[in-house]
Amino acid sequence: MDWGMKNRLYKTINPKTGKTVMLAVDHGYFQGPTTGLSDLKKAIDPLIPHADCLFITRGMVRNVVDAKTKIPIFLRVSGGPSVLQEDLSDEHITVSMKEALRLNAVGVGMSIFVGGKHESRTVSNLGKLVNEAQEYNMPVLAITAVGKEMARDARYLGLACRMAVEQGANIVKTYFCEQDFDKVVEACNGVPVVIAGGKKIEEKSALEMAKNAIEQGAVGVDMGRNIFQSDSPVGMIKAVNAIVHEGKSVEEAYGVYEKEKK
Ligand code: R5P
Repeated sequence: MDWGMKNRLYKTINPKTGKTVMLAVDHGYFQGPTTGLSDLKKAIDPLIPHADCLFITRGMVRNVVDAKTKIPIFLRVSGGPSVLQEDLSDEHITVSMKEALRLNAVGVGMSIFVGGKHESRTVSNLGKLVNEAQEYNMPVLAITAVGKEMARDARYLGLACRMAVEQGANIVKTYFCEQDFDKVVEACNGVPVVIAGGKKIEEKSALEMAKNAIEQGAVGVDMGRNIFQSDSPVGMIKAVNAIVHEGKSVEEAYGVYEKEKK
């Protein structure tokens, strides 16, 4: 792996722990002003000191992130359909590699919709993005988006993640599944796996999910709603850090959240 690629990956995955807490705040790219993110600056400013990087769109980087920031920027570069559409798979690459370089991004991320109507184009888009990104040592994160009708089980997630790896993704973001998540990680053959948090659930359950994912081989989380929609977003991100970077138990991490909440 060339120096630039390694350096960008080390800015995302903490070299001291080999783990990462990515803060996902890109939801507006198809959901608009998602609950908790309407005023994005207000939402993320207190969280930034506790995140390894921000997963965000280029528009919001320019509009709300202070250029003096030290937080690495991982850019969402796909989009198209809004949440109003039945079929969310009709995504295109919307951001050029030059634009990612202009913004000093440490990586670019896009969704593939395996099983979706536009499966083939999104997978092909991933391959093309990797072709271009490799020229600049830019890591590519592939997100295994799950269609409304798709089961989030190890068989499906393993298929989608492995397809992403075969196209050359440098990091894979997927959902956690209760059964055989380790098989999903195994299918990625050493390519780092992070989990999305998904819909807001009870804080302790979200921490349990993060703990289980780490124990089964994930290198971390790219988590959004379970942090910024919590009644204590700072408490939650600190608690997630305690699990991901410090190896704390769910009980200990929940204590971190409760202490901050007071
Ligand atoms: C989808 O909107 C994005 O890819 C999110 O970055 C991803 O789903 C992670 O956010 P959450 O933890 O809220 O699922």
